[in-house]
Amino acid sequence: MMITKLLKNTIEDLFANGKGILAMDESTPTCDKRFSSNGIPQTLEMRRNYRELLATTPGLNESIGGAILYDETIRQQTKDGEPIASVLMNAGIIPGIKVDLGAKDLAGFPNEKITEGLDGLRERLAEYKSLGARFAKWRAVITIGDGIPTRTCIDANAHALARYAALCQEAGLVPIVEPEVLMDGNHSMQRCYDVTEHALKALFDQLYFFHVDLEGIILKPNMVLAGKDSKEKNSIEEVAQATVNCFLSSVPAAVPAIAFLSGGQSPQQASQHLNAINKDYKERLPWIVAFSFARAIQQPCLEAWKGQSSNLEAAQKLLYHRAKLSAAARRGEYKLAMEDHG
Ligand code: 13P
Repeated sequence: MMITKLLKNTIEDLFANGKGILAMDESTPTCDKRFSSNGIPQTLEMRRNYRELLATTPGLNESIGGAILYDETIRQQTKDGEPIASVLMNAGIIPGIKVDLGAKDLAGFPNEKITEGLDGLRERLAEYKSLGARFAKWRAVITIGDGIPTRTCIDANAHALARYAALCQEAGLVPIVEPEVLMDGNHSMQRCYDVTEHALKALFDQLYFFHVDLEGIILKPNMVLAGKDSKEKNSIEEVAQATVNCFLSSVPAAVPAIAFLSGGQSPQQASQHLNAINKDYKERLPWIVAFSFARAIQQPCLEAWKGQSSNLEAAQKLLYHRAKLSAAARRGEYKLAMEDHG
C-alpha cells in the first residue's frame, strides 16, 4: 500500500504541469553512433560533457519532469564535481535509469531480439535507488518483417518486461515499460497497428500474471505509423486516429500515463502527432498522454553542439526549445508556427 502511494507520487511529479520525460539514456554504442554522425569524438569525456550540457540546460524543468540516465551517467559528475543526478534533482527533474542490458539476438528466431538484464536486477535496482533514481526503463524491441514478429518473440519480451516491472515496484521504483515496435521496414500503418495491438495485449496479460500494479507503471510505446521505407503517406490526423484506436483497444484505463518514444520520427513529426492525439481526442483518453523522447528532443541540440564548448549555449537553447514544443504537444497546444521561435 505504501509502495503504491510512493509510485503514484513519482508519476504525478513526472508529469505535473504538462511536463514529460527526456530520454538521455543512450547506451555507449548508440551514443557513439550519434556522435560519429555529427563528427564528435566517441570518448568517455565527450559523453560526460554532452550529458552535463543536457542536465544543466537553463529552464529545462519548465517542460521536463524526469530524465532517463544510462548507468555510466548516473555515476558521473559535472566538471565542478557535482553528480549529474544531483544537478537534475536540484533543478526539480527526477532522475531515472535504463536498467535493461540491451536487445540481443533471440536464439532460433532469425532477425528477432530479446532484451536481457533480469539476473541480479533486484540488487542493481537497490543501488540505482541509492544513487537517486526514482524510476526505471526497460526496452523490448519488436521488428516487423517477413513472417515476424513471431508469437514467441512477443511473449518472451512481454514476460521479461513483466518480471522487470514487478522487481521495480518491489523496490519502490516506477517501471517505464517499453515494448517498441520498430519503424524500420516498408510495412503499412495497418500492419503496425496489428503488431502493436498484439504486443500490448500480450504485455498486459503478463503484467497481470506477475501481479504488477497497473496504477504504478508508465507505458512507453511507439506510435502507430507506416514503416520508414513504406510508400504509404498518412496524414497527421490518420496517425493520431490509428494510434488512439489501437491504445483504447489494448491499454487498461488503470494505467496512469503513456509516454511515447519518438522512434526515428523527426522532432516536428513527433510533436505534430502527439499534439493531434491530445487535441483531437482529449475526452476519450483515460490516461495522460505524454512523451519520453530521445532523438525528437536531442537531435537539433546535438547537431548544433558538434562537441565544441563554444557551441554550448546555442545547443542548450535548442534543447530547451524542443523540450518546450514537446510539452506544448503533450497539452495539445503545439502549433507549427512555434517552430520558428527558437
Ligand atoms: P527515441 O525517442 O529516440 O525513439 O528514444 C526513446 C528511447 O528511450 C528508446 O528507448
